[in-house]
Amino acid sequence: MARLAVNVDHVATIRQARGINEPDPVLAAGIAELAGAEGIICHLREDRRHINDRDLSLLRQTVKTKLNMEMAAVEEMVRIARDIRPELVTLVPERREELTTEGGLDVNSNPELYKKVVGELKERGIRVSFFIDPDPLQIETAEKVGGDIVEIHTGHYSEARTESEAEKRFLRIVQSVEIADELDLGISAGHGLSYVNVKRFEALPQIEEYSIGHSIVARAVYVGFEQAVREMVDLVECF
Ligand code: PXP
Repeated sequence: MARLAVNVDHVATIRQARGINEPDPVLAAGIAELAGAEGIICHLREDRRHINDRDLSLLRQTVKTKLNMEMAAVEEMVRIARDIRPELVTLVPERREELTTEGGLDVNSNPELYKKVVGELKERGIRVSFFIDPDPLQIETAEKVGGDIVEIHTGHYSEARTESEAEKRFLRIVQSVEIADELDLGISAGHGLSYVNVKRFEALPQIEEYSIGHSIVARAVYVGFEQAVREMVDLVECF
């Protein structure tokens, strides 16, 4: 049975749109856990555009399942992770100008750096996952530099415009999962997964965990909007 880990970045994005203190990703994380999520994910970006240091610190204090901190492999983040000690760090690429994480991490671009970062995190008891494209070379290098888990980037698959494109892209994921499994790596998957496109993954029991954020927040707006409006109507109707 696969696990769901919920990414709360987008709750923080809504908060940041107003620059006030709600909605709070920390409260959302607690609700996600009550609903059965087995992990909470947040991405502390260099520009702190959504999750900030206060959120990370409170999540560390309150998450009861497993905290997965997504971060770039840079000195500042390694220092923060070593201090906060999440159960898991997921190394992701980061560009200031991107709307969201675009491609997977190119582990082959600098294996020495990633090996060093993995060592520094493991010294503090933190497991390390690499967010990579479904590419056999990336998976092999992730294993060589000491990664415990590979998170297969499903964004390309999620963006497929036709059924045949989706099938072709999914097959690349299938091959990558098989390679990761042979290497005895933990396997997770995420990015762009929705209530519709996630169904195909039933065919891949090797994937232990799914990291999903945006589609859950989007659905929460739809399934929660009616009640929220009713509650405000009830309030103003008493005036
Ligand atoms: N995994 C990683 C590494 C990500 O960067 C993200 C997006 O923050 C996700 C999973 C979740 O993607 P989405 O919000 O599209 O579900």
